[in-house]
Amino acid sequence: MSIDADEIPLARPVLGEAEEQAVAEVLRSGQLSLGPRVPAFEQAFAARLGVAHASAVSSGTAGLHLALRAVGVSDGDEVVTSPFSFVASANAAVFERARPVFADIDPRTLNLDPDAAAAAVTPRTRALLPVHIFGYPADVAAFERLGLPIVEDACEALGAIHDDGIPVGARGHPAVFGFYANKQLTTGEGGMVTTADAAVKERMDSERNQGRAPDMSWLDHDRLGFNYRLSDIASAIGLIQLERLDGMLAGRAAAAALYREALGGIEGLELPCEDSGEVRRGWFVFVVQLPRGSDRDETIRALRAHDVQSKPYLPAIHLMSYYREQFGHREGEFPVCEDVAARSIALPFFPGLSEGQVQRVAAALGAVLGQG
Ligand SMILES: Cc1ncc(COP(=O)(O)O)c(C=O)c1O
Repeated sequence: MSIDADEIPLARPVLGEAEEQAVAEVLRSGQLSLGPRVPAFEQAFAARLGVAHASAVSSGTAGLHLALRAVGVSDGDEVVTSPFSFVASANAAVFERARPVFADIDPRTLNLDPDAAAAAVTPRTRALLPVHIFGYPADVAAFERLGLPIVEDACEALGAIHDDGIPVGARGHPAVFGFYANKQLTTGEGGMVTTADAAVKERMDSERNQGRAPDMSWLDHDRLGFNYRLSDIASAIGLIQLERLDGMLAGRAAAAALYREALGGIEGLELPCEDSGEVRRGWFVFVVQLPRGSDRDETIRALRAHDVQSKPYLPAIHLMSYYREQFGHREGEFPVCEDVAARSIALPFFPGLSEGQVQRVAAALGAVLGQG
């Protein structure tokens, strides 16, 4: 689909000559996969977060799958998680024939509510899967008090910091990042799982590579595995993106500040929560909740007519057809999530979004909502 010159896109990756050169070098080297860039990217990523280990994988979804397996999730287990997430976080439990058990979200942070999660725990609960939604840190310390294995979905949260100063992804539980093109750091497709546990890293490294142990000869496999490898081409892009990360995060934070200023006057519009105390959001998307009573689909269509892209973000997972059919979910189970999911739209958001573009989005949204 072509984007007309004036249309403001939802997302735009920051890529330049350095990435082009890095890819060209990999191509010239002839080692496109299973080469040196993968461990180099893993080590640089782990060092950046201050965590012992990182395993590069082909996507955030692949990382979630491997991380859940690594904490022992399997047949018939329950995984307590958020219904307000990208569908992959719940799907990853289903891959292992486990049941995602949803609990409602906190209306301010939009993250899994620790009290609701505690109430959803049963003797079958094998793991907790909090999601740092829209880059705002989930209260992992509260989940830790429940004494169960934790896998963090940090796919949207690179750059986020907990209130105790620990970066999201550095608490030691497997934490999964995603590198799709709209993310804070992109490799096109890709992901990374961080962990403090060398045995978890070893298991994930094997399972991403068809179950092959690191010291095994070619085509000898001692366990079930997958092809969840990240290529050297993608890792080379990731290494450059990591060097750019501070600038890209600052660019997103600057765009968010412009939006806060520009949208503040629209009555009934709810903006992303501000950082509380020492917490820092790793800005990923700028999602607003429309005033009650407004027609979201019509708003999105009308914004498009103003050359502004937007989309409903995110739909509640438990109300998706697959989850209704497989697990018997229905409206009314998680009222906070359902209310937020019905009113949320993502606005154009990327580093370098200009003040003029933000003004255009704000003016269009105000006009579309009858407050122009
Ligand atoms: C919260 C969340 N979880 C999981 C994923 C899955 O990541 P990927 O698309 O890299 O598989 C995403 C990415 O879109 C996400 O936003």
